[in-house]
Amino acid sequence: MKPLGLPWLWLLWGCSCGLGSAHPGLPRGAFPGAAAAANGSHSGHVPPQRSEKGSAAFRESLRRHRYLNSFSSSDNSSAVYGINQFSHLFPEEFKAIYLRSKSSELPLCNKEVKMPTAHMPLPIRFDWRDKHVVTKVRNQQMCGGCWAFSVVGGIESAYAIKGESLEDLSVQQVIDCSYNNFGCSGGSTVNALNWLNKTHVRLVKDSEYSFKAQTGLCHYFSGSHAGVSIKDYSSYDFSDKEDEMAKALLAYGPLAVIVDAVSWQDYLGGIIQHHCSSGEANHAVLITGFDKTGNTPYWIVRNSWGTSWGVDGYAFVKMGANICGIADSVSAVFV
Ligand SMILES: *[C@@H]1O[C@H](CO)[C@@H](O)[C@H](O)[C@H]1NC(C)=O
Ligand SMILES: *[C@@H]1O[C@H](CO)[C@@H](O)[C@H](O)[C@H]1NC(C)=O
Ligand SMILES: *[C@@H]1O[C@H](CO)[C@@H](O)[C@H](O)[C@H]1NC(C)=O
Repeated sequence: MKPLGLPWLWLLWGCSCGLGSAHPGLPRGAFPGAAAAANGSHSGHVPPQRSEKGSAAFRESLRRHRYLNSFSSSDNSSAVYGINQFSHLFPEEFKAIYLRSKSSELPLCNKEVKMPTAHMPLPIRFDWRDKHVVTKVRNQQMCGGCWAFSVVGGIESAYAIKGESLEDLSVQQVIDCSYNNFGCSGGSTVNALNWLNKTHVRLVKDSEYSFKAQTGLCHYFSGSHAGVSIKDYSSYDFSDKEDEMAKALLAYGPLAVIVDAVSWQDYLGGIIQHHCSSGEANHAVLITGFDKTGNTPYWIVRNSWGTSWGVDGYAFVKMGANICGIADSVSAVFV
């Protein structure tokens, strides 16, 4: 027979751990971003250290930040790494939860990008956010559905660029219904677009099919139910052709891309230019713009880890060197 008191003991143990969460010996503000991270933890994040394992992961994070920051060049544009909502996770844990983008089995088109702007000079800075056609940053929580957030973000923007209203569409619908992906266990942007293009599924409003942070049964809507379907999509390999990629962004709207985001666990701001390989894609995001006004041109990248991560939920990635493999698999969507 099981002793009845045991569950209560567990509960108490869990509570006392939660309460004793201040990290001994960590002066607030001693590391770049510590203050911002402290703010972040007030906006609903689990405090960075909760257990022995959490503290060990936290100590490892501090060592990792020192290493990552040691690459900063003398110019002030380099990315800064430090304490944020992911510092209590070991990199393997972080990867297992958040980096669940899989590469697609489908080939990328390599056809020439044909568009009205092909022979026009690129503006020095462009961001679709300035046109009010980008929805707000969302939070995938513990769901490996980045691929769905990336694709749905692209569709929301394409729809608004077409002159329709800017609306949050259902990410959960894509997570639950895209049968050629794995829901919160991971998926591919190109597979999702292929599924949307084949089935003409209409994405309903987010408020009608809201995010649950876990995979559920696909809910079907009647044929007359309003929603947004896509007409087509294209996926490209733009490595070595990031200026072409910028033209595609201008012509088609925000681009769904996959990246190696292992070092993004510790990202606080600045332009990512090191510690990010190509050919190791594990995360999907949405590029909304670029900025070439400074010494280091960069892509403006919307993530799905909430607004307390990075720069209000965004990251900046250096242009022109396929940093993080950002140009390897790039998708535009047409609605
Ligand atoms: C923390 O939040 C407060 C209030 O929202 C804000 O005034 C302050 O600038 C923030 N600090 C940092 C470092 O983000
Ligand atoms: C970098 O430094 C220059 C000159 O001091 C300044 O004009 C620029 O705004 C700084 N850039 C950033 C990203 O802080
Ligand atoms: C999308 O579907 C249309 C038919 O509705 C097809 O002509 C087109 O080739 C498809 N696009 C891709 C990239 O497969």
